[in-house]
Order: sequence, then C-alpha cells, then structure tokens
Amino acid sequence: MSADAPDLDPLKVERIRRRLVEWYQDAGRDLPWRADRDPYRVLVSEMMLVQTTVTAVVPYFERFLKRFPTVAALAEADETEVLKQWEGLGYYRRARQLHAAARAIVADHGGRLPDDLESLRALPGVGRYMAGAILSFAFNQRAPILEANTQRVLARWIALGEDIKSTRSQARLWDAAERLVPDQDPGTFNQAFMELGALVCTPRTPSCLFCPVSGDCDARRLGLQETIPVMALKPPPLEVAEQCALVERDGRLLILQRGAGGLWAGFWEFPTIHCSGADPGGRAFGQSVDLAEGVRRLTGVTVKIGPLVHSLRYSVTKHRVRLEAYNAVGLSGSLTPGEGFVQALWVSPEHLGDYPFGSAGRRLASWVCRHPGAAEDAAVGD
Ligand code: ADE
Repeated sequence: MSADAPDLDPLKVERIRRRLVEWYQDAGRDLPWRADRDPYRVLVSEMMLVQTTVTAVVPYFERFLKRFPTVAALAEADETEVLKQWEGLGYYRRARQLHAAARAIVADHGGRLPDDLESLRALPGVGRYMAGAILSFAFNQRAPILEANTQRVLARWIALGEDIKSTRSQARLWDAAERLVPDQDPGTFNQAFMELGALVCTPRTPSCLFCPVSGDCDARRLGLQETIPVMALKPPPLEVAEQCALVERDGRLLILQRGAGGLWAGFWEFPTIHCSGADPGGRAFGQSVDLAEGVRRLTGVTVKIGPLVHSLRYSVTKHRVRLEAYNAVGLSGSLTPGEGFVQALWVSPEHLGDYPFGSAGRRLASWVCRHPGAAEDAAVGD
C-alpha cells in the first residue's frame, strides 16, 4: 500500500462491491456494447466513448459494427471510409488509432485482441484506462479502471480534497480503484462503478438519496458531495478567427483533403485560412495573406471573393473559433493541392456527403445544401 493510499477497510470494500453490483443489476442501462463480452466490440465502444456521451455513441456503434463487423474487416478498410463512419463523433484521432489498432491486431496477434496488459498497452490509442476496460469487460480479468465517472465517484468516497487531476490525486485514485476491483466478475463491478457515476453520482447535485453506497461515502458524511471533486480552474478558451471560401464553378464546389498528421488528417474541408488569434493547428498562412491569395495557395485556383454568406462558431482543443464563409467564384487554375494537402476536387453539392468533413465543415456543407444557388451569388456584381 502506498503512503497516500486512502483508508479502505476490507469490510467496507466488500460492502461497496456487493451493494454496487446489486444496484447495477437492477438499475444499469441496457447498452448495446453490454450485450456480450466480445473483445472487438469492447474495443470499438471504449474508443468511441472517450470524451463522448453514451447517447451520442449508441447509433455510431451500431452502424460502425454493421460496416466493420470484425477486426479483419476494419483492418482491411480504407482510412477515408473509417473516418466517414466516425464523422460527427469528434476526436478523430481515436478513429485513426482504432483503425491502426485493428491493423496491428491482425498483423501481430492473428486478428484476436491480446489478453495481457503489455500487449494491449502497445496498441495505438490503448492507455491504462482502455487496457483495464478491455481486460475486465472482455476477459474478466481483475484490472482497475479510472475515467471521468469513476474518478468522481472515488474522489467522493474518499473525500479527496485536492485537484482531482494532479499527479498525486491520480495516483491515489488508481490505487483505490485497484483495491476495490474484485477477483470475482471484475467486469461487472467496473461497469457498475462507471454506471453509478453516470446515473447517480453525477457532476452536479449527485442523487445521494438513491445511492446504494452513500453510507460509505466520506464526502456525503462531511457534506462535501457538491464541492468534491475539486478541479483546478480551466483557462478561458483562446479566441480564433478563420475565413473560408465556398468556391463555385459550373455548379460544383471546391474542397480539399488534408494529408497525414495534425488534428484533421484525412478530412476534407473548404479552403480555409487562419486570420487572427492562436492557430488551433494546421490552418494556412497566419495573418499574412487575404482569402483569395490563401485559396490560390491552397488549391492552385484563382478566385474572386464574393459576400460573406454564413458564419459559425466551433470549439477545437483549447480554441473557440469564429469561422466566416464567403462565396467565391473559381476563375482559373488547375487543381494543385498546397502543402499539407493531398487532393483538391470540384464536387457537386449533393455529393458533399460522400466525403468526411470535421464538424464545422460538415455544418457548412449542410448549410450549402440547404441554400442551393447561394454559392452563385458571388458572381453578382461582375
Ligand atoms: N463510458 C466509457 N465506457 C463506458 C461503458 N462501457 N459504458 C458506459 N459508459 C462508458
């Protein structure tokens, strides 16, 4: 036991385990990835659930498994197809990691997920939480988990008064999780543990009256359930301005695809420049060129920029971006993707849906489809 280990006496541990699992058997949600313990389904669901809600994940999970029913099917797929299936779920690095993990499982493990910690941790995107989830849910091994829900529950049980994200707090919480997980049916215990955080021990106003283990909760005993977990204040988001061009020519729109690396690798977008504020990563040119020149450098096409037609806001990493979309007409130039891009294409609006876009790009593409002819307005005044 480490010097900082919380006081968890064996009777209390036994009681928590029993009450939690009994409660879960009654109150746990029927989620599609809980239907069986297939390791591939566990891997896909856990990759999707990182930083994403259960409600958002359910339809993606079912569609993804229909399209890629096995590790081998996913490994064989083209990355664009995988990104297309993931489009709208966010955290696209996860999709690429899942794809790379499937390829590694086929190449190094005969297409079956390994059942030991070291091999799992060697897979792309599999950290300590993910490995614990796969080992316990799929292989019924005694392995701890700690993610947003469980760390909140644990922090309250042990009345952790420090910033929950600090190295010291994380070490204490992992230590507590390690000692709580039972030998018998650790997967069910871990699911129950997360479920309590999702349904009862919620971030604000936890429902202690309905909690099966409130009698063992130190935060509740001390009246601190609404002030724990303690979180360091987040700095405000960095404000960013971007402009993009909806370049039209013969009824088609100009889009381009990013190459490998960076936040939006493999995704398509309308030609976009970064105008002010911190650059969230990978936008072209800083403040040094105007939109027409930016489009020319990004795509090889000379354009005439028309009016501002739409603007939207989106968040990415620590940034809050205001994106302005201008109509533009393509005048000349063969398509030559600029540095960092691999393809530029003219696409009719009804085919925009065939290409994976990031969330802001998808919103813009939908806007374009809902406003047919809007792009031609750029020509007005010629
Ligand atoms: N969040 C992360 N993993 C989860 C799971 N298996 N069930 C519900 N919520 C989760």
